[in-house]
Amino acid sequence: MTREAATTAARSRVDGPAKVTGTARYTADIHPDGLVYAALVPATVPSGRITAIDTEAARSASGVLAVITHENAPRVETVEGLAQTWLPVQDDLIRHEGQPVAIVVAETTEQAQYAAELVRVTCERSPARLDFRAHRDEGHPVPTFTEPDSTVGDVDAALKDDAEVIVDQRYRTADRHHNPMEPSATIAEWRDGDLLLYDATQHVWGPRAVAAAAFGLEPERVRVRCDFLGGGFGAKGYSWPHELLAPLAAKVVGRPVRLLLTRAQMYTSHGRQTGTEQRVTLGAKKDGTLVAIRHASATPTSVADDYIEVCAAGTRSAYACPAIETRSRAVPVNLPIPTPMRAPHEGPGMAALEIAMDELAVELDTDPLELRLRNYAEADPTKGVPFSSKRLRDCYLRGAERFGWAGRPAKPRQMRDGNDLVGWGMATAIMSTFRFPATARVSVDRDGNVLIEAGSQEIGGGTYTTMPQIAAGVLGIDPARVRLALGDTALPQTGGTFGSSTTLSVGSAVADAARKLEVKLRGLADGADPARAGLGRLLSHHCLDRLEAEGSWAPGGNAVGEGPDLSIATFGAVFAEVRVDADLGLPRLSRLTGVYSAGRIINPKTARSQITGGMIWGLGQALLEESDVDVNLGRFVSKNLAGYLVPVNADVPHLDASFIEDEVDQRASPVGAKGIGELGAVGVAPAIANAVHHATGIRVRTLPIRPETLLVD
Ligand code: MOS
Repeated sequence: MTREAATTAARSRVDGPAKVTGTARYTADIHPDGLVYAALVPATVPSGRITAIDTEAARSASGVLAVITHENAPRVETVEGLAQTWLPVQDDLIRHEGQPVAIVVAETTEQAQYAAELVRVTCERSPARLDFRAHRDEGHPVPTFTEPDSTVGDVDAALKDDAEVIVDQRYRTADRHHNPMEPSATIAEWRDGDLLLYDATQHVWGPRAVAAAAFGLEPERVRVRCDFLGGGFGAKGYSWPHELLAPLAAKVVGRPVRLLLTRAQMYTSHGRQTGTEQRVTLGAKKDGTLVAIRHASATPTSVADDYIEVCAAGTRSAYACPAIETRSRAVPVNLPIPTPMRAPHEGPGMAALEIAMDELAVELDTDPLELRLRNYAEADPTKGVPFSSKRLRDCYLRGAERFGWAGRPAKPRQMRDGNDLVGWGMATAIMSTFRFPATARVSVDRDGNVLIEAGSQEIGGGTYTTMPQIAAGVLGIDPARVRLALGDTALPQTGGTFGSSTTLSVGSAVADAARKLEVKLRGLADGADPARAGLGRLLSHHCLDRLEAEGSWAPGGNAVGEGPDLSIATFGAVFAEVRVDADLGLPRLSRLTGVYSAGRIINPKTARSQITGGMIWGLGQALLEESDVDVNLGRFVSKNLAGYLVPVNADVPHLDASFIEDEVDQRASPVGAKGIGELGAVGVAPAIANAVHHATGIRVRTLPIRPETLLVD
């Protein structure tokens, strides 16, 4: 096997058999000796103070070991690094519905859950603000990974003096929850004052830092482990209160404690993707040349802490235009603090921009693809710097050909199949590439088996499969000889498995470690190729049991690895066909083509799986997913998978997904890769909304698209 073939082989997941046979142990499957179980008592009002808690019945229920409330809980240090700045059961304040107000610990889960129902909480309810849309003009900017605002040129002047056609509309996307199959879970065990956490987390280093700060420990005295994640999509990215409540409860009862969130608690114990209110203004010449883009958004945050969705993050880089202005504002409400969810920022934001672009194409009587090509950005129009690599034009052209876009009737309502109105729409996808520092160790033993050690996570994207490919490629050996150990703060430190960053960041550290190991091996081989000599044989020959090397990668730039000289992003072109039942208004996706420019693809098989997962995520955004807030009760209406609709197999047609295969972006990362975990979730919803317009003539600016909005005649 050549080095290139080892690196970019379409390997099946090496952890697949363990997962489908049930031998892969997820966090809640781990049972240390003496394990006991915790259940949370949630607040039932969105705002107020606890005036009394009656725990007597719960305390005397069978199997109960402790009932912990703000009246008797051990106090922890002020917490830094937690998604929110406050920890429940430390005071009497209620900041959102579902906030834990008591923890019950019992010998069994059932006993804990039963006793939790016996806790009587009395509270004084205070007025709550729940509808951020009603206060959309009262938001504030929030500093985050990028500036909340940006300005290039003079948008007002361009709209007044240069624009011959203007589109100016408001767009809405829904609050959405992550709904990973595996609920969050933490198992906390104190051993001689040291803390061991088994935790369903996308970043083992996050809860380590948070727990160390909260319990006043040196970080080295906290160890966090996570071998497998059953999805996360951002829900398990930041650290959340339950990750501290478990060790707090374990301290109280003096035994290991498991805290497994219920499905309903998955709607309130961590954040969600914010709903958005967006306004997009586009000014263009009659020939389609853009002269002005303005994109402003308001999104909810919590009353106690700030999070912001930078909806215009993609808009800043999308199209060549001399005047681009973006604004993001956050509006506090009495709901849990939001958090990133798969394709944060660009996911909701590009939906608004790309529906607006379709509206502009209609106004100009221009083909929507032609309009995008006319405004193609060769360099980043806001930063004024080149892209590290960008093959979006190839995506547009290949996607159009694969989809058959040339056969599209220019006007809406021209295609019908039986009772279905058929329409075609397209959209651009852009996603930021986050880059985090990473370290890794690679070692080889006398049998020639290679071990990679890196404290990263396996979220389902294929880390166990792709990292060995990268090391094998450097060493010139079969990836089957390489194993990866991850998910443990005892291993070399990496960033979190978020921001679509793992393959490029951890992979670059693994490649560096493998290269350094190769240099050592080459020394043993007197300069010959160690792979030809045989790694195990080289070690035997030199009476070595093991040889190892440490590697690292530090991208530099800001906290998300973004430097001043380059714009690093991934791109895609998405084409959708929908069928709308003429009588019922029911929209269905019938075809979807996506072509993506995302740097070097390490493993085409796992990459396709990631990108189609993202495309299905976009389908959910377009047609199904919505966490409605009941403004009277101050809670999400459906905290379950019966009321919260996610796409099932029957909703998903064949997905035509492909990558620009010969793109290698070594300015983005030494391994030439960029991120793909989230890219697929961008551009799908607007392509579908635009196809719905083409099918029906109805312009939808609110996602998800509800059938009742498509009932016309
Ligand atoms: Mo992702 S929303 O960066 O886990």
